[in-house]
Amino acid sequence: MITFNLNDEKRSVDADPDTPLLWVIRDEIGLTGTKFGCGAGLCGACTVHIDGEPVRSCQTTLGDATDQNITTIEGLEGKAAKAIQAAWQEIEVPQCGYCQSGQIMSATSLLAQNPKPSDEDIDEAMSGNVCRCATYVRIRKAIHHASD
Ligand code: FES
Repeated sequence: MITFNLNDEKRSVDADPDTPLLWVIRDEIGLTGTKFGCGAGLCGACTVHIDGEPVRSCQTTLGDATDQNITTIEGLEGKAAKAIQAAWQEIEVPQCGYCQSGQIMSATSLLAQNPKPSDEDIDEAMSGNVCRCATYVRIRKAIHHASD
C-alpha cells in the first residue's frame, strides 16, 4: 500500500510501485483531467504538481509519489491558479483543449514562482508542453494577462 496526498486528501493505493502516477490518478482514483499524450515525457499533457513543481506523471512512478503532495488540475487552487484560469477563459486559449490542463499546470507553477515573467521566461517554462493546435501565442498572452 502506497500513501500520498492528492489534492489535499490522503490516499492509499495498492498497486505496483512502478505503475506510472498518471494511470493511478486516472484509473485507480478516477480523476481524468490529467491527460495521456505521448507516455514518454515529451508532450506535457500529463503534467501535475508535486509540491508545486510541475512533473510529468507518465514518467513519475507511484513509488516516487510516496508521501508526496500531489496536485492535479481538479485540485488546483491559490492566487496564481485563479489568475491563470481566469486569463485562459478571457483570452479563450483552448482550441481542441486536450493539452490545456497540462498547460495550465505549468503556467500556474511559473506564475507562482515568477509573478512577472518575461516572454523568455514563459517560453522556457512552457517549452515542455506541446499543443497540436499551436495555441502558443494565446498561451503566452494569457500568462502575461494573468501577471498584470
Ligand atoms: Fe506524459 Fe506526454 S503523456 S509527457
